[in-house]
Amino acid sequence: MLVCLGQLLLLLVDIIMASYDQFNSGIFRINPDKINTKLDGYNIRTFEKISPKMCFDKCLRRPKCHSYNYNRHILRCELNFRPKYVSVDDFHNEVGFVYVEVGHYRGDPMYDTCLGNPCKSGEICENKKDAGGVVCVKDQEGKDYFGTVSTTKSGKTCQAWSKQEPHKHGFWAMNDESNYCRNLDGEQAPWCYTTDSETRYEMCDIPFCRNLACRSSPCENKGICAEVAGGFKCKCPCGYTGDTCSTRDKNKEDCKRSTNGFEYKGMINTTISHRTCQRWDSDTPHGHSFNNLNAENYCRNPDNEPKPWCYTTDPDKRWEICDIPFCTTPAQECVSSLYGEDYFGTVRQTKNGIPCQKWSDLTPHSHSYDSKLKDQDDYCRNPAAPGDKFPWCYTIDPDIRSDICDIPRC
Ligand SMILES: *[C@@H]1O[C@H](CO)[C@@H](O)[C@H](O)[C@H]1NC(C)=O
Repeated sequence: MLVCLGQLLLLLVDIIMASYDQFNSGIFRINPDKINTKLDGYNIRTFEKISPKMCFDKCLRRPKCHSYNYNRHILRCELNFRPKYVSVDDFHNEVGFVYVEVGHYRGDPMYDTCLGNPCKSGEICENKKDAGGVVCVKDQEGKDYFGTVSTTKSGKTCQAWSKQEPHKHGFWAMNDESNYCRNLDGEQAPWCYTTDSETRYEMCDIPFCRNLACRSSPCENKGICAEVAGGFKCKCPCGYTGDTCSTRDKNKEDCKRSTNGFEYKGMINTTISHRTCQRWDSDTPHGHSFNNLNAENYCRNPDNEPKPWCYTTDPDKRWEICDIPFCTTPAQECVSSLYGEDYFGTVRQTKNGIPCQKWSDLTPHSHSYDSKLKDQDDYCRNPAAPGDKFPWCYTIDPDIRSDICDIPRC
């Protein structure tokens, strides 16, 4: 009886933790048009390791995107452009994928965060809190290029996609794209088949927004890539070193800067009672729903517990908090990680100089970071990376809910 009761409690804890997790991360739910199915042959581009919500947004915001295939297990997002006619043959059974058409969500303020999409072809509409609303951004690799350049870099005229002469090809689904340069297959730049029978295809000279050396994202572990003479240089996040930030820096202090350690990315892997942590990607001895954390067996706080914690390798102890020391070195007054989630400096006003509201206050702006950041006073922070892209704060101005802060990159 006792055992049963214990198991029931564990189950309850699991359910509560799982729903808490979902609540916290705002898990995005939408009814897929097809389950365990994907549309094949219409891929505009693929994004790896992004959330269902981001995948949905990426599709919704590209006027050319008709639908997407999303796989929750491998977090892959494949955007599709509009097929000429969808036949059952275009669908392919693949377990884990859902297929979603976005047309019926366009224009719905519940879903469409870029309502009245003001962007030109070749631009992506993004709704950025830090930019004060909707902005149009140019895509860096030309994969979203839907402009009208139709000559290659050496001046050759492009062959119409609907033609099979002079070059036969398999991009029959692009009939509508005239003879414009496109990059639907992951080339380095938009390209086309040429009308010159001697030159099958060639890249088009459409200027890039970002420098070449960084375009392949050579920096690992969220290092920031910068173009330097003859190559690139990675600015590595705390705890990593090396040309591409692939090496763990063993000399760095392993510590946390907030009480609940939501930002903790260190390598402590034992609990407060010296039990060894279970790997997050493992379900033994304890099954759970944080398998995607990608943090080996290090203590983490993905769900707003009072402190970083881990499941333990002791079958009799499901999980336990870890004793992570506070950092003794002062925090840097600059942003060193991609989204500034590691920023613990002392800027406490927005980029326009409006003082920040204390995180523990719920006025003038009510919010849900009051417990997570209660010890962070009124400093700019980024508790919601990668959803938010830079440290920010709520402001004391009742008319301006939040804004990013002006903090230099390290
Ligand atoms: C825990 O971390 C230490 C220090 O990084 C490492 O030497 C050890 O192998 C880790 N133990 C396990 C079980 O992962």
